[in-house]
Amino acid sequence: MPVLSDATRGRILFGGDYNPEQWPEETWHEDVRLMKDAGVNSVTLGVFSWSKLEPEPGAREFGWLDTLMDLMHAGGIGVVLATPTASPPPWMGRLHPDTLPRTEDGRTEWWGGRQHFSHSSATYRRHAAAITADLAARYGGHPALTMWHINNEYCTFDYGDEAAAAFRRWLRQRYGTLDTLNTAWGTAFWSQGYDTWDGILPPRLPHYMRNPTQVLDFRRFTSDMLLECYVAERDIVRRHTPHLPVTSNFMPLWIGQDAWRWTEEEDVVSVDLYPDPRDPLGAQQGALVQDMTRSQARGPWMLMEQAAGPVNWRGVNHPKPHGLNRLWSLQAVARGADAVCYFQWRQSRQGAEKFHSGMVSHAGEQGRTYQEVRQLGADLARLSPHVTGQHSGADVAVLHDWHAWWAGAQDGRLSTEVDYADVLKTWHRALWQAHLTTDFAHPEHDLTAYKLVVVPQLYALTGTAIDNLLAYVRQGGTLVSGFLTGVADEDDRVRPGGMDARLRELFGIRTLHEWWPLDAGETVECDGPQGAFRGTLWSEELEADGTATETVPYKGGELDGLPAVLRRDRAWYLSTLPEPEALRDLLATIAADAGVRPVLDGLPGQVEAVRRGDLLFLLNHGREPVTVDVPGTHRDLLTEATVTDRVTLGRYGVAVLRP
Ligand code: GAL
Repeated sequence: MPVLSDATRGRILFGGDYNPEQWPEETWHEDVRLMKDAGVNSVTLGVFSWSKLEPEPGAREFGWLDTLMDLMHAGGIGVVLATPTASPPPWMGRLHPDTLPRTEDGRTEWWGGRQHFSHSSATYRRHAAAITADLAARYGGHPALTMWHINNEYCTFDYGDEAAAAFRRWLRQRYGTLDTLNTAWGTAFWSQGYDTWDGILPPRLPHYMRNPTQVLDFRRFTSDMLLECYVAERDIVRRHTPHLPVTSNFMPLWIGQDAWRWTEEEDVVSVDLYPDPRDPLGAQQGALVQDMTRSQARGPWMLMEQAAGPVNWRGVNHPKPHGLNRLWSLQAVARGADAVCYFQWRQSRQGAEKFHSGMVSHAGEQGRTYQEVRQLGADLARLSPHVTGQHSGADVAVLHDWHAWWAGAQDGRLSTEVDYADVLKTWHRALWQAHLTTDFAHPEHDLTAYKLVVVPQLYALTGTAIDNLLAYVRQGGTLVSGFLTGVADEDDRVRPGGMDARLRELFGIRTLHEWWPLDAGETVECDGPQGAFRGTLWSEELEADGTATETVPYKGGELDGLPAVLRRDRAWYLSTLPEPEALRDLLATIAADAGVRPVLDGLPGQVEAVRRGDLLFLLNHGREPVTVDVPGTHRDLLTEATVTDRVTLGRYGVAVLRP
């Protein structure tokens, strides 16, 4: 199968979504000049071009795209060609209302925005296949073409009738018989037993809480249906260009797609990433998504979209201060990206995103945004020969599974304060702040290469996953688990005892008497050998079985003296969420015991250090200059300077050191 390096050919891809159909032809020539000047070597064409390519049913308008493909080729700029299927033209909805998705309360999602297509609509799929086939036939042999980009951020749900029929087919395949489905869904509760497949619906808006397993299966179904749409288009383009890689861009840590499953079908894993420049944890949010994407790719990956300045979909949309765009771009390279791309090349003057930044902002060539983009282009060109194709794994893995997220993110839980994604971010943040590089892994993956595995929260676990965790510890691995892990099976059926018995034994828990969720802002005192700390979000009334080798008790309150943290040899269980610094210190101590070293010792807090291949990236996330000790002699690939023992990084400064 083709891979990212077939498209990069030794250069970091640099560029972005290019929407020339929004501009007169003179601007296209100006664009090529500016692209070349900035070192842009890749653009994504056609993402939302369907009505331009097929202005009326069956028509084909390829002339403008022919011109652009040729222009790009003449300018030495590769084209990632997108299928335009994320935004069907208005005629499609008008002539074929069956292509429009329905919300859970039966509303139609009309044209006039984007992504108004039903993944289950046979009509939509037929039209999508036809335009994809014609694009692939026309441009498959074009010398500018380097990669295919299918659709864009697949993310639609559909509760309509055609989706309902597809859901039933999907369920028949999963369960075989109605009895099995009724058992899996626990339909004995509230008189929900089904006597015919035709009675089953997507989880449309009910009077009161929905059947959780029905909701869980609908999420699985939706991810699978979107994947079917992707695979159908991928297979079409593959027939024409078996040598070119195919991707579709993920939204970062989005609940709707099981990205572990999806990446099995992708040649290149790509992601869109928009941390808030004002968020003090923006860099960590970026690192998390980058770590996750690298882990899914198991090698170099593509940053398909980021913003050169502000986005326009937050309440208040802040620009990136001078230097931040470069810093966050190089952070992605440090964490394995072989492509640094943007939405979008030129900021629009019309349409819903005219206040969203582009690489060329409304201020044009003289604007700070474009000038910083140029500098970044030069930096990436310098780094390209040293980094492309390089992959570095980690000693620590954070376990993450969409099915566990889906099962846990439902109504009727004990606390709406517990948010899966927030818990995941908090644990990643603790490791990031301890300067420990982390991979992400699925609970059924082979974990034996990791010295430390952490489970922030996996509410539902399959038997296979539990076997895997037990085997990992048996074989010498260190496991740290947060609360609400192993509570349910894959049907969201609570396991006897409130937590899988084998996991309880692993951690030294005899009885889990009660869960004691905490209110927002409420804390519980814990008093450990390493000092006291406060727990947040959750606590548990646990009875240890006497086999624990270490415990940290709750202090005061109803749970006084009961274990907040339990350790049995190499398996740790945290029944509360320690405050961030305490979690950082605890994980750092456990990691050190497990033989995991931070990337570099003695790093100032604001500096992130990442190794990629034999290179050491140092990134100053602070506005103040900082000096970092780096024993030995190195060459900074960005400045060509020789660095001996110490390097000073300016505001948002970066050094890329080669020994
Ligand atoms: C992405 C999308 C782009 C653009 C961007 C704005 O989600 O793929 O088309 O809308 O957001 O930030």
